[in-house]
Amino acid sequence: MINKPKGTQDILPQDSPLWRKIEDAAHRVCAAFGYQEMRTPVFEDTSLFQRGVGDSTDVVQKEMYTFEDKGGRSITLRPEGTASFVRSYIENSLYANPQPTKLYYLISCYRYEKPQSGRLREFHQFGVECFGGTTDATDVEVITLALRFFEELDVKDLVLNLNSIGCPVCKKEYNQKLVEYFKQYEDKLCDTCKERLYKNPMRIIDCKSPICSEIAADAPKMIDHLCADCQEHFDKTRAYLDALKVPYQVNPNIVRGLDYYTRTVFEITSSSLGAQSTVCGGGRYNGLVEELGGKPTEGIGFAIGLERLILILKNQGYSAVTEQTPALYVASIGEEADMFTQKLVFTLRSKGIHAESDLCGRSVKAQMKYANKLGAKFTMVLGEDEIKRGTADLKNMETGETQSVSLDEDTIYTMIK
Ligand code: HAM
Repeated sequence: MINKPKGTQDILPQDSPLWRKIEDAAHRVCAAFGYQEMRTPVFEDTSLFQRGVGDSTDVVQKEMYTFEDKGGRSITLRPEGTASFVRSYIENSLYANPQPTKLYYLISCYRYEKPQSGRLREFHQFGVECFGGTTDATDVEVITLALRFFEELDVKDLVLNLNSIGCPVCKKEYNQKLVEYFKQYEDKLCDTCKERLYKNPMRIIDCKSPICSEIAADAPKMIDHLCADCQEHFDKTRAYLDALKVPYQVNPNIVRGLDYYTRTVFEITSSSLGAQSTVCGGGRYNGLVEELGGKPTEGIGFAIGLERLILILKNQGYSAVTEQTPALYVASIGEEADMFTQKLVFTLRSKGIHAESDLCGRSVKAQMKYANKLGAKFTMVLGEDEIKRGTADLKNMETGETQSVSLDEDTIYTMIK
Protein backbone atom coordinates (compact mmCIF):
# COMPACT_ATOMS: atom_id res chain seq x y z
CA MET A 1 0.00 0.00 0.00
CA ILE A 2 1.20 3.50 -0.76
CA ASN A 3 0.73 5.97 2.10
CA LYS A 4 0.37 9.73 1.94
CA PRO A 5 3.64 11.68 2.04
CA LYS A 6 4.98 12.56 5.50
CA GLY A 7 3.55 15.81 6.85
CA THR A 8 0.43 15.78 4.67
CA GLN A 9 -3.20 15.19 5.60
CA ASP A 10 -6.26 13.84 3.86
CA ILE A 11 -9.31 15.98 4.47
CA LEU A 12 -11.89 13.27 5.00
CA PRO A 13 -15.62 13.70 4.30
CA GLN A 14 -16.42 14.09 8.00
CA ASP A 15 -14.06 17.09 8.20
CA SER A 16 -15.24 18.80 5.02
CA PRO A 17 -18.17 20.61 6.68
CA LEU A 18 -15.75 22.29 9.09
CA TRP A 19 -13.41 23.32 6.25
CA ARG A 20 -16.39 24.72 4.36
CA LYS A 21 -17.60 26.60 7.42
CA ILE A 22 -14.16 28.18 7.78
CA GLU A 23 -13.95 29.03 4.08
CA ASP A 24 -17.47 30.48 4.10
CA ALA A 25 -16.55 32.65 7.09
CA ALA A 26 -13.44 33.88 5.23
CA HIS A 27 -15.51 34.81 2.13
CA ARG A 28 -18.16 36.56 4.26
CA VAL A 29 -15.75 38.57 6.39
CA CYS A 30 -13.62 39.58 3.39
CA ALA A 31 -16.72 40.75 1.54
CA ALA A 32 -17.65 42.98 4.47
CA PHE A 33 -14.13 44.46 4.51
CA GLY A 34 -14.05 44.89 0.72
CA TYR A 35 -11.32 42.31 -0.01
CA GLN A 36 -11.46 40.35 -3.28
CA GLU A 37 -10.36 36.77 -3.77
CA MET A 38 -7.35 36.09 -5.99
CA ARG A 39 -5.65 32.79 -6.91
CA THR A 40 -2.07 32.32 -8.01
CA PRO A 41 -0.16 29.20 -9.15
CA VAL A 42 0.92 26.55 -6.66
CA PHE A 43 4.45 26.78 -8.05
CA GLU A 44 6.56 29.79 -8.93
CA ASP A 45 10.02 30.63 -10.14
CA THR A 46 12.37 29.82 -7.21
CA SER A 47 13.96 33.27 -7.34
CA LEU A 48 10.62 34.85 -6.35
CA PHE A 49 10.86 33.33 -2.88
CA GLN A 50 14.63 33.74 -2.63
CA ARG A 51 14.24 37.47 -3.24
CA GLY A 52 10.82 37.90 -1.67
CA VAL A 53 10.97 35.82 1.48
CA GLY A 54 14.73 36.26 1.93
CA ASP A 55 17.83 34.15 1.35
CA SER A 56 18.74 33.90 5.02
CA THR A 57 15.34 32.78 6.30
CA ASP A 58 14.69 29.22 7.46
CA VAL A 59 11.95 28.97 4.86
CA VAL A 60 14.33 29.61 1.96
CA GLN A 61 17.43 27.98 3.43
CA LYS A 62 15.87 24.77 4.69
CA GLU A 63 12.22 24.35 3.89
CA MET A 64 11.45 24.92 0.22
CA TYR A 65 10.28 22.21 -2.12
CA THR A 66 12.48 23.13 -5.06
CA PHE A 67 13.01 21.13 -8.22
CA GLU A 68 14.12 21.54 -11.77
CA ASP A 69 11.38 21.10 -14.33
CA LYS A 70 11.85 19.40 -17.70
CA GLY A 71 12.76 22.75 -19.24
CA GLY A 72 15.63 23.20 -16.77
CA ARG A 73 13.87 25.94 -14.78
CA SER A 74 14.16 26.07 -11.01
CA ILE A 75 10.63 25.81 -9.64
CA THR A 76 9.42 26.00 -6.03
CA LEU A 77 6.11 24.99 -4.50
CA ARG A 78 4.89 28.13 -2.75
CA PRO A 79 5.85 28.15 0.93
CA GLU A 80 3.53 31.13 1.52
CA GLY A 81 1.26 33.49 -0.40
CA THR A 82 2.66 37.01 0.00
CA ALA A 83 5.53 36.85 -2.51
CA SER A 84 3.23 35.36 -5.15
CA PHE A 85 0.62 38.05 -4.56
CA VAL A 86 3.22 40.79 -4.88
CA ARG A 87 4.43 39.22 -8.13
CA SER A 88 0.89 39.05 -9.44
CA TYR A 89 0.11 42.62 -8.30
CA ILE A 90 3.06 43.87 -10.34
CA GLU A 91 2.69 41.51 -13.32
CA ASN A 92 -1.03 42.21 -13.77
CA SER A 93 -0.66 45.98 -13.18
CA LEU A 94 -3.14 45.89 -10.32
CA TYR A 95 -1.51 49.12 -9.14
CA ALA A 96 -3.22 50.86 -12.07
CA ASN A 97 -6.59 50.46 -10.32
CA PRO A 98 -7.69 52.94 -7.66
CA GLN A 99 -5.70 52.05 -4.55
CA PRO A 100 -5.68 50.34 -2.17
CA THR A 101 -5.85 46.91 -3.79
CA LYS A 102 -7.39 44.60 -1.18
CA LEU A 103 -6.98 40.88 -1.86
CA TYR A 104 -7.46 37.58 -0.06
CA TYR A 105 -6.67 33.93 -0.61
CA LEU A 106 -7.38 30.41 0.54
CA ILE A 107 -4.35 28.40 -0.55
CA SER A 108 -2.22 25.35 0.11
CA CYS A 109 1.45 25.94 1.05
CA TYR A 110 4.48 23.66 1.16
CA ARG A 111 7.37 23.71 3.62
CA TYR A 112 9.81 20.91 4.29
CA GLU A 113 9.53 21.09 8.08
CA LYS A 114 9.71 18.45 10.80
CA PRO A 115 6.09 17.43 11.11
CA GLN A 116 4.40 17.68 14.51
CA SER A 117 1.01 18.73 15.83
CA GLY A 118 0.13 21.96 13.99
CA ARG A 119 3.18 21.75 11.72
CA LEU A 120 2.79 20.08 8.35
CA ARG A 121 4.60 19.94 5.04
CA GLU A 122 1.42 20.69 3.14
CA PHE A 123 -0.84 23.12 4.98
CA HIS A 124 -3.47 25.70 4.14
CA GLN A 125 -3.70 29.41 4.71
CA PHE A 126 -6.41 32.01 4.67
CA GLY A 127 -4.60 35.28 4.09
CA VAL A 128 -5.12 38.86 2.99
CA GLU A 129 -2.81 41.38 1.35
CA CYS A 130 -3.53 45.09 1.12
CA PHE A 131 -1.44 47.11 -1.34
CA GLY A 132 -1.21 50.88 -1.43
CA GLY A 133 -2.81 51.53 1.95
CA THR A 134 -0.59 54.27 3.29
CA THR A 135 -2.26 55.31 6.54
CA ASP A 136 -1.95 53.78 10.00
CA ALA A 137 -5.62 52.86 9.77
CA THR A 138 -4.63 50.27 7.12
CA ASP A 139 -2.72 48.29 9.74
CA VAL A 140 -5.75 48.34 11.97
CA GLU A 141 -8.12 47.31 9.17
CA VAL A 142 -5.99 44.25 8.43
CA ILE A 143 -5.59 43.28 12.09
CA THR A 144 -9.28 43.70 12.83
CA LEU A 145 -10.19 41.66 9.75
CA ALA A 146 -8.25 38.73 11.22
CA LEU A 147 -9.92 39.21 14.60
CA ARG A 148 -13.37 39.54 13.04
CA PHE A 149 -12.79 36.24 11.19
CA PHE A 150 -11.96 34.45 14.44
CA GLU A 151 -14.97 36.05 16.11
CA GLU A 152 -17.21 34.88 13.25
CA LEU A 153 -16.09 31.32 14.03
CA ASP A 154 -16.45 31.87 17.77
CA VAL A 155 -12.79 31.08 18.45
CA LYS A 156 -11.98 31.84 22.07
CA ASP A 157 -8.97 32.83 24.14
CA LEU A 158 -6.75 34.32 21.47
CA VAL A 159 -4.03 36.84 22.18
CA LEU A 160 -2.99 39.54 19.72
CA ASN A 161 0.76 40.19 20.00
CA LEU A 162 1.97 43.40 18.42
CA ASN A 163 5.42 44.75 17.68
CA SER A 164 7.25 47.06 15.31
CA ILE A 165 10.46 46.00 13.61
CA GLY A 166 11.16 49.42 12.12
CA CYS A 167 12.23 50.48 8.65
CA PRO A 168 15.52 49.95 6.75
CA VAL A 169 16.89 53.12 8.37
CA CYS A 170 16.39 52.19 12.01
CA LYS A 171 16.91 48.48 11.30
CA LYS A 172 20.42 49.23 10.04
CA GLU A 173 21.46 50.83 13.33
CA TYR A 174 19.68 48.16 15.32
CA ASN A 175 21.40 45.38 13.36
CA GLN A 176 24.76 46.82 14.39
CA LYS A 177 23.68 46.59 18.02
CA LEU A 178 22.57 43.01 17.47
CA VAL A 179 25.90 42.06 15.89
CA GLU A 180 27.72 43.55 18.87
CA TYR A 181 25.52 41.58 21.24
CA PHE A 182 25.63 38.23 19.44
CA LYS A 183 29.39 38.48 18.76
CA GLN A 184 29.96 37.77 22.45
CA TYR A 185 28.29 34.40 21.98
CA GLU A 186 29.52 33.62 18.45
CA ASP A 187 31.04 30.26 19.45
CA LYS A 188 27.82 29.04 21.01
CA LEU A 189 25.49 29.93 18.12
CA CYS A 190 24.28 27.17 15.79
CA ASP A 191 26.08 26.92 12.43
CA THR A 192 23.23 28.60 10.55
CA CYS A 193 23.22 31.55 12.97
CA LYS A 194 27.01 31.89 12.81
CA GLU A 195 26.49 32.54 9.11
CA ARG A 196 23.59 34.89 9.77
CA LEU A 197 25.49 36.96 12.32
CA TYR A 198 26.93 39.44 9.84
CA LYS A 199 24.39 38.93 7.05
CA ASN A 200 21.06 39.17 8.87
CA PRO A 201 21.43 39.10 12.66
CA MET A 202 17.69 39.60 13.28
CA ARG A 203 17.12 36.04 12.03
CA ILE A 204 19.03 34.75 15.09
CA ILE A 205 16.18 36.03 17.29
CA ASP A 206 13.88 33.76 15.31
CA CYS A 207 16.12 30.65 15.43
CA LYS A 208 14.43 27.52 16.75
CA SER A 209 17.62 26.07 18.31
CA PRO A 210 17.30 26.14 22.13
CA ILE A 211 20.80 27.63 22.64
CA CYS A 212 20.25 30.44 20.13
CA SER A 213 16.80 31.18 21.63
CA GLU A 214 18.34 31.37 25.10
CA ILE A 215 21.04 33.78 23.92
CA ALA A 216 18.49 35.79 21.91
CA ALA A 217 16.24 36.28 24.96
CA ASP A 218 18.47 39.09 26.28
CA ALA A 219 19.33 40.63 22.92
CA PRO A 220 18.47 44.33 22.35
CA LYS A 221 14.87 44.84 21.22
CA MET A 222 13.97 46.65 18.00
CA ILE A 223 11.11 48.40 19.73
CA ASP A 224 13.62 50.30 21.88
CA HIS A 225 15.48 51.51 18.79
CA LEU A 226 12.76 52.76 16.44
CA CYS A 227 13.36 55.96 14.48
CA ALA A 228 10.96 58.85 15.07
CA ASP A 229 8.76 58.01 12.03
CA CYS A 230 8.45 54.33 12.93
CA GLN A 231 7.74 55.21 16.56
CA GLU A 232 4.98 57.57 15.43
CA HIS A 233 3.50 54.89 13.16
CA PHE A 234 3.54 52.36 15.99
CA ASP A 235 1.99 54.82 18.46
CA LYS A 236 -0.78 55.74 16.02
CA THR A 237 -1.52 52.10 15.21
CA ARG A 238 -1.85 51.42 18.92
CA ALA A 239 -4.06 54.49 19.36
CA TYR A 240 -6.44 53.19 16.67
CA LEU A 241 -6.54 49.76 18.29
CA ASP A 242 -7.25 51.38 21.65
CA ALA A 243 -10.01 53.48 20.11
CA LEU A 244 -11.58 50.32 18.67
CA LYS A 245 -11.16 48.65 22.07
CA VAL A 246 -9.12 45.83 20.57
CA PRO A 247 -7.14 44.07 23.29
CA TYR A 248 -3.48 43.34 22.45
CA GLN A 249 -0.13 43.00 24.09
CA VAL A 250 3.06 44.59 22.86
CA ASN A 251 5.51 41.72 22.42
CA PRO A 252 9.03 42.94 21.57
CA ASN A 253 10.15 39.37 20.78
CA ILE A 254 8.06 39.08 17.63
CA VAL A 255 10.36 39.47 14.62
CA ARG A 256 8.56 37.06 12.23
CA GLY A 257 10.41 34.44 10.21
CA LEU A 258 10.31 36.12 6.81
CA ASP A 259 12.57 38.96 5.72
CA TYR A 260 10.13 41.31 4.04
CA TYR A 261 8.57 42.87 7.12
CA THR A 262 8.88 46.52 8.06
CA ARG A 263 7.21 48.37 10.96
CA THR A 264 4.05 46.64 12.24
CA VAL A 265 4.28 42.91 12.84
CA PHE A 266 1.73 40.84 14.70
CA GLU A 267 0.91 37.29 15.69
CA ILE A 268 -2.28 35.87 17.09
CA THR A 269 -1.67 32.99 19.47
CA SER A 270 -3.82 30.40 21.19
CA SER A 271 -2.94 28.67 24.44
CA SER A 272 -4.74 25.54 23.23
CA LEU A 273 -2.18 24.89 20.47
CA GLY A 274 0.87 23.75 22.44
CA ALA A 275 4.30 24.39 20.89
CA GLN A 276 2.96 25.74 17.57
CA SER A 277 0.82 28.38 19.25
CA THR A 278 0.73 30.96 16.45
CA VAL A 279 -2.42 30.63 14.39
CA CYS A 280 -2.02 33.93 12.53
CA GLY A 281 1.04 35.92 11.51
CA GLY A 282 1.35 39.10 9.55
CA GLY A 283 2.67 42.58 9.18
CA ARG A 284 3.74 45.40 6.90
CA TYR A 285 6.14 44.91 4.01
CA ASN A 286 6.73 48.35 2.60
CA GLY A 287 9.79 47.42 0.54
CA LEU A 288 8.66 44.17 -1.05
CA VAL A 289 6.83 45.46 -4.13
CA GLU A 290 9.89 47.50 -5.06
CA GLU A 291 12.23 44.59 -4.25
CA LEU A 292 10.30 42.44 -6.72
CA GLY A 293 10.40 45.00 -9.51
CA GLY A 294 7.39 47.25 -8.86
CA LYS A 295 7.08 50.89 -7.88
CA PRO A 296 7.47 51.69 -4.18
CA THR A 297 4.16 50.53 -2.71
CA GLU A 298 3.16 49.93 0.86
CA GLY A 299 1.82 46.52 1.72
CA ILE A 300 0.41 44.75 4.72
CA GLY A 301 -1.26 41.40 5.28
CA PHE A 302 -1.56 38.28 7.36
CA ALA A 303 -2.04 34.56 6.97
CA ILE A 304 -3.91 32.16 9.22
CA GLY A 305 -2.94 28.48 9.32
CA LEU A 306 -6.17 26.57 8.77
CA GLU A 307 -4.98 23.26 10.21
CA ARG A 308 -4.02 25.11 13.40
CA LEU A 309 -7.38 26.86 13.43
CA ILE A 310 -9.08 23.48 13.13
CA LEU A 311 -7.03 22.15 16.06
CA ILE A 312 -8.26 25.09 18.17
CA LEU A 313 -11.87 24.60 17.13
CA LYS A 314 -11.68 20.89 17.89
CA ASN A 315 -10.02 21.56 21.26
CA GLN A 316 -12.88 23.95 21.94
CA GLY A 317 -15.23 21.00 21.43
CA TYR A 318 -16.45 21.97 18.00
CA SER A 319 -17.84 19.14 15.95
CA ALA A 320 -19.44 20.08 12.68
CA VAL A 321 -21.36 17.03 11.62
CA THR A 322 -23.85 18.37 9.18
CA GLU A 323 -24.65 15.06 7.59
CA GLN A 324 -25.92 15.01 4.06
CA THR A 325 -29.11 13.05 4.51
CA PRO A 326 -31.14 12.28 1.38
CA ALA A 327 -34.66 13.65 1.14
CA LEU A 328 -35.71 10.52 -0.73
CA TYR A 329 -34.37 7.01 -1.24
CA VAL A 330 -35.94 5.14 -4.14
CA ALA A 331 -35.53 1.37 -3.90
CA SER A 332 -36.13 -0.61 -7.07
CA ILE A 333 -36.87 -4.20 -8.04
CA GLY A 334 -35.89 -5.31 -11.53
CA GLU A 335 -34.34 -3.66 -14.53
CA GLU A 336 -37.39 -1.75 -15.77
CA ALA A 337 -38.03 -0.24 -12.33
CA ASP A 338 -34.37 0.62 -11.97
CA MET A 339 -34.42 2.49 -15.29
CA PHE A 340 -37.47 4.45 -14.09
CA THR A 341 -35.78 5.06 -10.72
CA GLN A 342 -32.63 6.47 -12.30
CA LYS A 343 -34.72 8.90 -14.38
CA LEU A 344 -36.77 9.96 -11.36
CA VAL A 345 -33.70 10.44 -9.17
CA PHE A 346 -31.94 12.41 -11.91
CA THR A 347 -34.92 14.75 -12.38
CA LEU A 348 -35.30 15.34 -8.64
CA ARG A 349 -31.55 16.05 -8.34
CA SER A 350 -31.88 18.54 -11.19
CA LYS A 351 -34.42 20.34 -9.04
CA GLY A 352 -31.91 20.44 -6.16
CA ILE A 353 -33.38 17.53 -4.19
CA HIS A 354 -30.92 15.07 -2.66
CA ALA A 355 -32.29 11.76 -3.92
CA GLU A 356 -30.54 8.38 -3.75
CA SER A 357 -30.98 4.97 -5.33
CA ASP A 358 -29.20 1.63 -5.41
CA LEU A 359 -25.80 1.47 -7.11
CA CYS A 360 -24.63 -1.82 -5.59
CA GLY A 361 -27.19 -4.35 -6.82
CA ARG A 362 -28.65 -4.83 -3.34
CA SER A 363 -31.84 -6.76 -2.58
CA VAL A 364 -34.90 -4.64 -1.68
CA LYS A 365 -34.44 -5.51 1.98
CA ALA A 366 -30.78 -4.45 1.86
CA GLN A 367 -31.72 -1.28 -0.05
CA MET A 368 -34.18 -0.31 2.70
CA LYS A 369 -31.58 -1.05 5.37
CA TYR A 370 -29.13 1.20 3.51
CA ALA A 371 -31.79 3.94 3.15
CA ASN A 372 -32.22 3.79 6.92
CA LYS A 373 -28.48 4.06 7.47
CA LEU A 374 -28.31 7.11 5.21
CA GLY A 375 -31.09 8.70 7.25
CA ALA A 376 -33.37 9.22 4.24
CA LYS A 377 -36.40 11.31 5.17
CA PHE A 378 -38.70 9.53 2.69
CA THR A 379 -38.46 6.17 0.94
CA MET A 380 -40.33 4.52 -1.87
CA VAL A 381 -40.11 1.05 -3.44
CA LEU A 382 -40.63 0.71 -7.18
CA GLY A 383 -41.36 -2.60 -8.88
CA GLU A 384 -43.16 -3.66 -12.05
CA ASP A 385 -46.60 -3.13 -10.44
CA GLU A 386 -45.86 0.41 -9.30
CA ILE A 387 -44.54 1.38 -12.72
CA LYS A 388 -47.67 -0.07 -14.44
CA ARG A 389 -50.03 1.61 -11.95
CA GLY A 390 -48.15 4.89 -12.01
CA THR A 391 -48.41 5.17 -8.24
CA ALA A 392 -46.28 4.06 -5.28
CA ASP A 393 -46.23 4.29 -1.49
CA LEU A 394 -44.19 7.18 -0.16
CA LYS A 395 -43.06 6.47 3.39
CA ASN A 396 -42.18 9.21 5.84
CA MET A 397 -39.33 7.55 7.75
CA GLU A 398 -39.74 9.80 10.78
CA THR A 399 -43.45 9.24 11.40
CA GLY A 400 -43.78 5.86 9.69
CA GLU A 401 -46.80 7.20 7.75
CA THR A 402 -47.35 5.94 4.20
CA GLN A 403 -49.16 7.73 1.42
CA SER A 404 -49.93 6.62 -2.11
CA VAL A 405 -48.55 9.14 -4.59
CA SER A 406 -48.58 9.51 -8.35
CA LEU A 407 -45.20 8.65 -9.90
CA ASP A 408 -44.92 12.00 -11.51
CA GLU A 409 -41.84 14.04 -10.65
CA ASP A 410 -43.70 17.25 -9.83
CA THR A 411 -46.00 15.50 -7.34
CA ILE A 412 -43.09 13.75 -5.63
CA TYR A 413 -41.11 16.98 -5.59
CA THR A 414 -43.96 18.81 -3.86
CA MET A 415 -44.40 16.02 -1.30
CA ILE A 416 -40.76 15.77 -0.24
CA LYS A 417 -39.22 19.22 -0.65
P1 HAM B 1 3.86 32.62 8.48
O1 HAM B 1 3.96 33.11 9.89
O2 HAM B 1 5.03 31.93 7.92
O3 HAM B 1 3.49 33.90 7.62
O4 HAM B 1 2.61 31.67 8.33
C1 HAM B 1 1.33 32.11 8.69
C2 HAM B 1 0.60 31.00 9.45
O5 HAM B 1 0.60 29.82 8.66
C3 HAM B 1 1.25 30.58 10.75
O6 HAM B 1 0.90 31.44 11.80
C4 HAM B 1 0.70 29.20 10.94
O7 HAM B 1 -0.61 29.26 11.50
C5 HAM B 1 0.60 28.69 9.51
N1 HAM B 1 1.76 27.82 9.21
C6 HAM B 1 2.99 28.19 8.85
N2 HAM B 1 3.78 27.11 8.65
C7 HAM B 1 3.02 26.03 8.88
C8 HAM B 1 3.23 24.62 8.84
N3 HAM B 1 4.40 24.10 8.49
N4 HAM B 1 2.20 23.80 9.16
C9 HAM B 1 0.99 24.31 9.49
N5 HAM B 1 0.72 25.63 9.54
C10 HAM B 1 1.71 26.48 9.24
C11 HAM B 1 3.29 33.87 6.27
O8 HAM B 1 3.17 32.87 5.62
C12 HAM B 1 3.12 35.26 5.71
N6 HAM B 1 2.98 35.12 4.25
C13 HAM B 1 1.92 35.94 6.31
C14 HAM B 1 1.71 37.31 5.77
C15 HAM B 1 0.83 37.66 4.82
N7 HAM B 1 2.41 38.38 6.09
C16 HAM B 1 1.97 39.42 5.39
N8 HAM B 1 1.01 38.96 4.60
